[in-house]
Amino acid sequence: MRKNTIAVLVVGLLALSGSSVTLVQAAALTDEESAAAAADYQKYCALCHGDDRQGHVNDHAPSLKSKSLMSTAYRWHLWFPTAYGRHGTPMAGFFEEVGGPMTKDEIFNVLAWLKEQVDVEKVELSRDPVIGDIALGAQVYDRECAECHGANGEGVTGTALGNAAMLSLTMDSFLRYAIQNGRDGTEMPAFAEKLSDNEIDSVTAFLRSRASGWALEKPVYRSPPAKEDYILNPDAQAPEFELKDDLYVMSADLDKALRDGRRLVLLDTRVMALWQMANIEGSVPLPYYYDGVDKLFDDLPTDGTLIVTYCECPRAAAESVSRKLRARGITNTAVLWEGIQGWISLGYPVSRGETVALKVEDVRSSDH
Ligand code: HEC
Ligand code: HEC
Repeated sequence: MRKNTIAVLVVGLLALSGSSVTLVQAAALTDEESAAAAADYQKYCALCHGDDRQGHVNDHAPSLKSKSLMSTAYRWHLWFPTAYGRHGTPMAGFFEEVGGPMTKDEIFNVLAWLKEQVDVEKVELSRDPVIGDIALGAQVYDRECAECHGANGEGVTGTALGNAAMLSLTMDSFLRYAIQNGRDGTEMPAFAEKLSDNEIDSVTAFLRSRASGWALEKPVYRSPPAKEDYILNPDAQAPEFELKDDLYVMSADLDKALRDGRRLVLLDTRVMALWQMANIEGSVPLPYYYDGVDKLFDDLPTDGTLIVTYCECPRAAAESVSRKLRARGITNTAVLWEGIQGWISLGYPVSRGETVALKVEDVRSSDH
């Protein structure tokens, strides 16, 4: 594990363990840093969180400007999802350590920039656990929350509340504040009027009861294919796809073409950390945030070889890369209709990477 990860984990631990030490003091960004951070935000985050940080543009990514979030989200609350992602949701890790495109400083600056965009007073949250009746909380959850957050907290239009990565890094009081006050500018209602204090405590305690502790993992790094291996089955014939709307290929057709050993290039356009975890065998990671002049575009074949792009759920990133390719004259492109999540749920195979746990004990016993 590298030093900066440990430092950041330690910040999180100190915050969680009730210490008042703040290791990372947010210094104001210089104009230059601020401009770079704004550009990074547009390049990496706007696709889902929106040009104006409003959220819910793709994959129901939450607002990153609500007063409710920005006044209660301490820096490490924003750091962990951005750096390591929330496994099982479309929010991937952007930190270079897990294959993402951003350095620690770049992430810190984007987060500092996000904070600077809103005019909010920090709300001091209690570090005490919220005590409630878990059985009552489960009933409240089913009645009031499951519709938007999913029967198992898997997330629908609302955030995945059963997600271990989220729960293990979130204080009870943070959850309770969101439930009580809602998230302004989004569909998350304030329950202060609708539920009693006891019901709010209980649903918070219920959510907490689902946390499975520290379960942070990071993938064992896999090298992307070399340039000469980009084209699958170079000596074979191209597949004959009937593209829906002249763009979309169905999982069943792609699967058949791959099994028949047809010639094509398969591009995984998600954040690279997701490619590291699981991808369609033979795919090349070319995340949506590479821009048109990036060298990788020059590495792609321009001889009319079909280029199929795919992303998580189901098409936003893949379509954006396909558009960029077409704009650069690489017009024989197709987008996987169901995305890789659809592909997996239809039972088609993926190549999975290994992961290693990021253990709290390792951090504690380290000499930092
Ligand atoms: C592919 C879409 C996508 C992209 C791109 C993306 N996010 Fe997210 N992000 C999500 C989703 C979806 C969630 C909610 C996940 C969940 O259910 O927990 C999320 C959650 C978050 C959260 C947690 C917010 C909260 O309310 O707890 C932060 C912080 C965040 N993203 C920051 C970023 C930043 C910064 C970037 C750019 C560097 C980025 N995201 C890029 C989809 C995305
Ligand atoms: C109408 C849909 C809807 C209902 C009903 C709803 N939520 Fe939400 N909830 C959302 C959305 C959407 C978000 C993300 C808001 C954003 O963009 O920041 C959210 C966010 C949250 C968050 C913040 C998560 C984070 O990481 O920032 C918590 C906690 C939460 N909801 C709990 C609940 C609970 C508990 C209930 C039931 C008592 C509930 N919600 C009912 C839609 C809903």
